[in-house]
Amino acid sequence: MSDTFRFTIDGVEVTGTPGQTILQAAEAAGIWIPRLCYLEGLVPGGACRVCTVKVQGRFQAACAFPAGPGLVVENDTEEIRELRKQVVEMLFVEGNHFCMFCEKSGNCELQALAYRLGIASPRYPYLFPVRQVDASHPDVFIDGNRCIQCGRCIRASRDVDGKGVFGFVERSRDTRVGVDARTGLGGTSLTLDDRAVTVCPVGAILKKRVGFAVPIGERLYDHRPIGTDLERRGA
Ligand code: FES
Repeated sequence: MSDTFRFTIDGVEVTGTPGQTILQAAEAAGIWIPRLCYLEGLVPGGACRVCTVKVQGRFQAACAFPAGPGLVVENDTEEIRELRKQVVEMLFVEGNHFCMFCEKSGNCELQALAYRLGIASPRYPYLFPVRQVDASHPDVFIDGNRCIQCGRCIRASRDVDGKGVFGFVERSRDTRVGVDARTGLGGTSLTLDDRAVTVCPVGAILKKRVGFAVPIGERLYDHRPIGTDLERRGA
């Protein structure tokens, strides 16, 4: 196509099309760029910074930065791998992520990223914050202990479901995902078939009564490191 263009990722020439982000063009070329808050089908949030790459020598979020002709992108370098590890480690210590007790274990993108990035234990002290669990909805519960504030549920509810059930409340280190009802999740219009129910990368939003239907050890990332389904080369 005449409007395609070429640029490089780690020295590999890839093709981009107008409107693509660096992450999307990389994915089309079979190069995986780690991500957490990005999910295909949702407007990029640019929140987590796990997808950080260097573009022309400057750090950028690959999920939000537009691909363009002649760009020189660094993705899988020692510097960037280290930065991503730090981001993921900070996410672990900022919340209460007890993987061995979590229904999402094995399907959790945060846990899978930690394995993929070679994180054995965070270098930072755990904060052990006090967070709420809201089980007031008949079919879904939200556990703030596991929330990484990626905003996927907010964007899915707003842009896909057309509801706006979720939104960020408070500020700074007190920021959390709130719901649009004083009585909690049970007072919202959330229903089981909402996209917002299935987009959480961790175990913060889960359906009730289906826990451990698939045994630990037989789950998605128990078999296949995260990102390997997207890789054809590089990464
Ligand atoms: Fe790009 Fe989160 S995936 S900032």
